[in-house]
Amino acid sequence: MRRLNLTRLPTQPDGHWWRQTLLVNAGIVLIVAAAIQLIPVRQDNPPVVREPVWDSPETRALTVLACYDCHSNETNWPWYARIAPISWVLAYDVNEGREALNFSEWDRHAVAIDPDEPFAPKPLAERIADEIRSGAMPPGTYRLGNPAARLSEAEKEALILGLQRTVENNQSPP
Ligand code: HEC
Repeated sequence: MRRLNLTRLPTQPDGHWWRQTLLVNAGIVLIVAAAIQLIPVRQDNPPVVREPVWDSPETRALTVLACYDCHSNETNWPWYARIAPISWVLAYDVNEGREALNFSEWDRHAVAIDPDEPFAPKPLAERIADEIRSGAMPPGTYRLGNPAARLSEAEKEALILGLQRTVENNQSPP
């Protein structure tokens, strides 16, 4: 019986083709990674229009630690915030966060929501308390990269109480 000499089969890959494919693919990835850096992203800190009058410096300090990067015009943009596609995600988060609640543009939150309105959302102080208590805010992904924002239970309760006082003292009735 004839034995197949595998090493001499003509279809046997010679080990170069996949190396070439790998190089070409790596090249494409690098070019795309470089090209997306050129897409402009807006990461700015607009001027502080109006802050609420804080009930205490401690409340402000905790809010700055845990919420200011997304809910103020004083965002601390980290160095990696400039690298696409991370930059897109962060810019999106900050835009959405500022839209929902902005401690630097308190004029937008200065009037309480009319509780008699049929579709009135929960009052702001309650929404803030819910978000902090449930662990939704600050978001888990943010806590990962920002150890200072990992509040203890006692800090959370202090922040909830402080923000409740601050919000209510700074909202006129509808
Ligand atoms: C990493 C960014 C980030 C941080 C830090 C952050 N938030 Fe948010 N927050 C968002 C985004 C984005 C939204 C809007 C989308 C949503 O509701 O998830 C939001 C929405 C909210 C809302 C509105 C929720 C609603 O639908 O009524 C409240 C209240 C809020 N955040 C409170 C806080 C408080 C209080 C802190 C600090 C303890 C905090 N957030 C920290 C990103 C952030």
